[in-house]
Amino acid sequence: MTPGRPPARPACAPEPDPTADQATKDAMSNATTDSPAHSASTASTLITNIAALVTNDPSLGDSSPLGLIQDAAVVIEGDRVAWTGDQSKAPATDNRFDAGGRAVIPGFVDSHSHLVFAGDRTQEFNARMSGRPYSAGGIRTTVAATRAASDEELEANLTHYLREALRQGTTTFETKSGYGLTVRDEARALRIAAAHTDEVTYLGAHIVSPDHADDPASYVALVTGEMLDACAPYARWIDVFCEKGAFDGDQARAILTAGKAKGLHPRIHANQLSYGPGVQLAVELDAASADHCTHLTDADVDALANSRTVATLLPGAEFSTRAEWPDARRLLDAGVTVALSTDCNPGSSFTSSVPFCIALAVRDMGMTPDEALWSATAGGAAALRRDDIGRLTPGSRADLLLLDAPSHVHLAYRPGVPLVGGVWRKGAHVGS
Ligand code: NIG
Ligand code: FE
Repeated sequence: MTPGRPPARPACAPEPDPTADQATKDAMSNATTDSPAHSASTASTLITNIAALVTNDPSLGDSSPLGLIQDAAVVIEGDRVAWTGDQSKAPATDNRFDAGGRAVIPGFVDSHSHLVFAGDRTQEFNARMSGRPYSAGGIRTTVAATRAASDEELEANLTHYLREALRQGTTTFETKSGYGLTVRDEARALRIAAAHTDEVTYLGAHIVSPDHADDPASYVALVTGEMLDACAPYARWIDVFCEKGAFDGDQARAILTAGKAKGLHPRIHANQLSYGPGVQLAVELDAASADHCTHLTDADVDALANSRTVATLLPGAEFSTRAEWPDARRLLDAGVTVALSTDCNPGSSFTSSVPFCIALAVRDMGMTPDEALWSATAGGAAALRRDDIGRLTPGSRADLLLLDAPSHVHLAYRPGVPLVGGVWRKGAHVGS
């Protein structure tokens, strides 16, 4: 049980999907929540005839960081991986699944998304593609729509995007509040999110609420006081958008420090639109992750390299705001741990597709296909300080993807092609 997580799943159930049969509905419900697996049987299943298996365990296979095993097999028992190795050495199991000479990889760990929202920002995107720059102020549009939405609408929207992400291979996701900005609206966003994931982040400090536009200090007091008290029971993490037009370094430090005192662990939106203090603050506070990292000084890179803080890169945001790409190569060469995530939100990055982000990172950010895959799986797990996901080794969670391709390299080689042909989450075959 994650610290700070509410004990039971709140009653708000996902919108029923009239097109799904009961078995699919059970599997999908299991698939979009972090409640104990109820579809995974305790019987053992062998997935065999895998052309290339990515384990992310360098002690296996080719001894690379991906721990790549050719002609491999995996054994799943209950919700865990029981065995991985050469298919000729696989143990006997109750069931058998033929991967047909395709690749198997760990499920994607999307460690940064904003999925509790209503409405969209098509017009803003359209204007941007005609040359208008992105600014943090657009968040207000989504705040207004989110406040006006019912709990049921927010829940249905969240479930919709989770299913979309699952079909594209996301088996763990983090998500944030930040489109409510009142005590009631932030707490309900987190309550809704906590019904679907253990990785819930309180982002009351997304922007200064429009209700406090003339007195930002009073909003910081709310975020660190009454709002924090109402939100902390639903969240594991606290986040701040540390940026011009949002919160400065001193405000961010005060907010994250208050969250830490309440048992929340920090992560930061840092250095997205401009150079600034976010990355140094992330390192100072031992944040699990500094997210965006698009504008970095050498001192920022150095600080990250000498810390436990992961740099989470979000190329969907640069794509959708026509901004300069973060330099993944520079970070990797300096020894920084890099994660790759979607930042899925209706403003700056409206994609739920980790494969799309992998393709962008390889094409435009200097990552190799191996590095990008590692960052979208083991890197995401590191950004959430988890070691039970993002890899396929005995004891890890049985979250894995069957690709309609002979190798994980195809994720970047064949951009835009739906290559995720099968998804197992917590040992249950939940898709395709
Ligand atoms: O990560 N940077 C702050 N938050 C989001 C943008 C949210 C929005 O524009 O609605 C991001 O890019
Ligand atoms: Fe974000």
